[in-house]
Amino acid sequence: MDTRKWVTLMAGVLFLGASFPAEACRCLPIILQNSYCNSNTVLKVKFIEDATRTMPGSQDVQKGYKVKVEEVYKGEEALKTLTFIDAKSGSSCDYTHSSDEFHKDYLIATSSNANEVSVRGCNYIAPWNQLSIKQKKGVEGAYNQGCTCDILYCSSQPCSMAEKTCTLEEYTGGDAENQRKNQVCAPINSTTCNWKNIE
Ligand SMILES: *[C@@H]1O[C@H](CO)[C@@H](O)[C@H](O)[C@H]1NC(C)=O
Repeated sequence: MDTRKWVTLMAGVLFLGASFPAEACRCLPIILQNSYCNSNTVLKVKFIEDATRTMPGSQDVQKGYKVKVEEVYKGEEALKTLTFIDAKSGSSCDYTHSSDEFHKDYLIATSSNANEVSVRGCNYIAPWNQLSIKQKKGVEGAYNQGCTCDILYCSSQPCSMAEKTCTLEEYTGGDAENQRKNQVCAPINSTTCNWKNIE
């Protein structure tokens, strides 16, 4: 290909690139019980500051945060000594922690592998003090009873009643806020799950 054709082609590629905004991160709805159940790692952490880390024997620089782990709700006890969480890999789902929120308790539900932890925008990440008392009991263990169930959003009635699911009733007059803040979706028999109050 001669240079002129190549330049024309590249200009076209750049033009196309410029005309489509960066893809926004798309997540399934983030529901604390589902995140708790589907994650092998649930921690209360403080994000301390921006940090990078180079993996031993590798050129890869990980970008993320220095952290202090306050509590391990799911995962190996060794995670208590974790000091770095990877958060960015240059995609639209990178997680950015506001510097105003450093040194505050956060709940994160994510996955770890050999005690390496990363978080991305689709993980459950929320200030600890925004959780209700019952949600805190949930992550302290009460959600375990519901881990064979799944929770789906329902924004208009009738809500589909698939086996082993509860619906989070988001329609006008629905009970979503109470379900989310005070309840666990748990089995009532071998085929059916339903909401019940966390004691
Ligand atoms: C489970 O409970 C639901 C709701 O009460 C009921 O409709 C269903 O028949 C029960 N299934 C079994 C296997 O007991």
